[in-house]
Amino acid sequence: MSQKSIAVLTSGGDAPGMNAAVRAVVRSGINMGMKVYGVYRGYNGLLNGDVKEMNLRSVSEIIGNGGTMLYTARSEEFKKKEAQERAADYCRSMGISGVVVIGGDGSFRGAQALTNAGINCIGVPGTIDNDIACSEYTVGFDTAMNTAIDMVDRIRDTAQSHDRCSIVEVMGRRCGDIALQTGISAGATAILVPEVEFNIEKDVISRIINTQKTGKKHFIIVVAEGVGKVNDLAKYIEQRLGIEARATILGHVQRGGTPTVRDRVVASQMGYKAVELLNQGFGNRVVVMRDGKITDLDIDEALSMERVFDMELYKVAMTISI
Ligand code: ADP
Ligand code: F6P
Repeated sequence: MSQKSIAVLTSGGDAPGMNAAVRAVVRSGINMGMKVYGVYRGYNGLLNGDVKEMNLRSVSEIIGNGGTMLYTARSEEFKKKEAQERAADYCRSMGISGVVVIGGDGSFRGAQALTNAGINCIGVPGTIDNDIACSEYTVGFDTAMNTAIDMVDRIRDTAQSHDRCSIVEVMGRRCGDIALQTGISAGATAILVPEVEFNIEKDVISRIINTQKTGKKHFIIVVAEGVGKVNDLAKYIEQRLGIEARATILGHVQRGGTPTVRDRVVASQMGYKAVELLNQGFGNRVVVMRDGKITDLDIDEALSMERVFDMELYKVAMTISI
């Protein structure tokens, strides 16, 4: 029987730990007797033939690096059926029978399309936002939260010295997980996320006033990117309460940096599982974490699931950050 060939690509926004996942795919594939290709710049690499065969040493010294050695891209072209057919033809011409796609749910739609075009694809959740409904965890989330809390701790030092209110925007366009966990860890007086409706008077101003009454003079408000408008909120707090307020948008600092142990380990487990699935002849599946265990789901089913925000944890935050 001829040697099986697979490929690996990273797509969408990068996330710390993607390299660990790439490394796991390459090493697991070679260990299982396969030829493994690295595809550069997401789906574009399959359209441009930007592909290189990897060996065990191609992925040396990357497990601790942020970003992705395969680069990443958002490929509008790949959304077209004609491009998907062309990518599948390219894979067939290279003898590539399966592709591991590391990215978010947009990337999984691409993996679904490529599977429909005849190339087995397995998705691995890699995004700092933790916004993939089918998985409790996405590679990069832990590192991003740890970066965010490190920054908020620094902001607290200066907010405390000046008796100020600091409003910090963390990433999460559609998902408040980074904001919630960072907010709890920072003892934020208020946490605003896209999943929970809020009223500025009740959920921010009253909480600051109540905390002021107990003697506190500096405040941290954590706001998810999906809520935004942190500069407006700072101005409103100054006018309404007469305390100095400053807004900070953490931005892309959260997307970089050396991955935490959790991200390296989960990425390694997920990368291994993806290759195991391809080796068993499966396609159109996503590797997920459920009840703390690494398992897999059909992509169609995975993409139809709705994310559930952790309201219990939100309640804990609202109860103790007073
Ligand atoms: P993420 O994977 O982080 O959610 P995007 O939503 O930007 O990021 O998707 C990454 C890439 O996945 C897109 O640029 C495109 O190449 C591919 N993709 C997204 N949606 C589709 C789709 N419906 N069909 C085919 N490919 C898609
Ligand atoms: O990786 C997810 C994410 O960080 C979102 O929270 C954010 O809105 C988006 O990516 C920004 O991505 P980019 O600047 O690469 O378009």
